[in-house]
Amino acid sequence: MGRVLAQSEKAAPLNQEFELTDKDFKFIQWFMHKNVGIFFSDRKRTMVYGRVSRQLRRLGLKRFSEYRPIIEQDAEEQLTFINCLTTNKTQFFREYHHFEFMEKVLMKEWREQGVKRLKIWSAGCSTGEEPYSFIASLHWSNALSYFDDVKITATDLDTKVLAHAKTGVYSDEAISSIPNKYLKPCFVRGVGQHQGQIKCKVGLQKRILFHRLNLLEEWKFEEQFDLISCRNVMIYFDKQTQEKLLKRFHQHLKPNGVLFIGHSEGVPASLDIFHHLGHTIYVKK
Ligand SMILES: C[S@@+](CC[C@H](N)C(=O)[O-])C[C@H]1O[C@@H](n2cnc3c(N)ncnc32)[C@H](O)[C@@H]1O
Repeated sequence: MGRVLAQSEKAAPLNQEFELTDKDFKFIQWFMHKNVGIFFSDRKRTMVYGRVSRQLRRLGLKRFSEYRPIIEQDAEEQLTFINCLTTNKTQFFREYHHFEFMEKVLMKEWREQGVKRLKIWSAGCSTGEEPYSFIASLHWSNALSYFDDVKITATDLDTKVLAHAKTGVYSDEAISSIPNKYLKPCFVRGVGQHQGQIKCKVGLQKRILFHRLNLLEEWKFEEQFDLISCRNVMIYFDKQTQEKLLKRFHQHLKPNGVLFIGHSEGVPASLDIFHHLGHTIYVKK
């Protein structure tokens, strides 16, 4: 009789190209949760298998147990592994009501509060469509001439998406999600070898500072923010991590600072540190 595998060591089904056992999957769940806060339920196993398989194929490996020591010893490969497991879906002006709220309500508030140097943080900015949408919206609202300084800090864990974000270049399919009023003033269309691409205008792009930041680690910001946008990021974290993060956002907001979160995220009323201003919009108490 063949060896009976313990439940935690069950091998991959025979039709799978690479071996990813239950034990391997448990390691991935533990590793991602501990290091970056992302929790993969058992239902995400097929997705994880697909993404990890690409790394195994690239390295000519057959089973995850051969990849694990590489991840544990090689910092560069560890980043690649984490990158492959992040979900980076985004688009320009996603959840447009936030941009409308900034233009119609916050601009007025900031003027009345005498804000001089406007500081915004796009936390979990992915490929950059979110911070570029903010700067376009601020440009459209004349914020760049009104305030003495306007800076957007844009951070993400994933080095690959950040590298894209820094270029500010997108395929012109993105145009369909950019409302017309921002298109001409804020973006240029590529010509020649850049045909089929659009790019954020340099004068706006230079207002955005991109850098890698793992939200679970230390944040080294010298100043507080007027607005923090952390949208569709906390959804991947467990409740405890979400609450810790919300408290840290609270500390990093100026008095009356505003927090935008994603459409399926929430701030528990029990935290009692934010007033709810509108759909997925909160102000620091
Ligand atoms: C779905 S995208 C959201 C992009 C954008 N905010 C939006 O709403 O369109 C989620 C992003 O969160 C990032 N992320 C996940 N865990 C993170 C962490 N611990 N620290 C920083 N960024 C993280 C991912 O790399 C990914 O780019």
